[in-house]
Amino acid sequence: MNGERKFRLGVLGSGKGSNFVAIADACAAGRIPAEVAIVLSDLAEAGILEHARQRRLPARHLPPGKFRTKLDEEAERAYVAALEDAQVDLIVLAGFMRVLKGDFLRAFEERIVNIHPSLLPSFPGLEAWKQALDHGVKVTGCTVHFVDAGVDCGPIIGQQVVPVLDEDTPETLHQRINATEHELYPKCVAAVARGEVSIQGRRVVRKK
Ligand code: GRF
Repeated sequence: MNGERKFRLGVLGSGKGSNFVAIADACAAGRIPAEVAIVLSDLAEAGILEHARQRRLPARHLPPGKFRTKLDEEAERAYVAALEDAQVDLIVLAGFMRVLKGDFLRAFEERIVNIHPSLLPSFPGLEAWKQALDHGVKVTGCTVHFVDAGVDCGPIIGQQVVPVLDEDTPETLHQRINATEHELYPKCVAAVARGEVSIQGRRVVRKK
């Protein structure tokens, strides 16, 4: 180490935290040139907090406030303050089950990424693997994208394809997509941390 400041990630999640584990382990192994500065969850019992603590990374439960699908104003201020205090360069949504709104998005413009378990723009929203099965598509996958004011619709950084098999159930398809996410998300976060990509309108392009 030459004392240079490392790129800092703030990770938000509500669930089991398998994508967080893939990213934290890629940071520890040097495959992502970054460190996890803070992990925040709206659920005290979320697995992601436990995984962070096991890795001795700063982790906090921050209550979401009075709404079911978004943060209320006070909670939004608490999230922004915690992420600013941790001096994060990029916010990584890893199964965070709340839609982020105005002030939060403005505070971290073009610095929030998300992973979604389908090939967007197909099947935004909940249970995307089930939507794919119900529709009868032959391939689905996962998408990493920058977050904008819409739901699951910001500029796309990367996508990885997963075939749908005749014998798939929602559970088996979800599992294979989840495993693929663990390959794609670290690669995309690494590209952003290395400053390799830029947003041009709807497109994310490799810098020349
Ligand atoms: C992933 O399937 C991701 O696509 C979605 O939420 C899930 C999070 O899973 N946004 P995990 O908590 O990372 O295991």
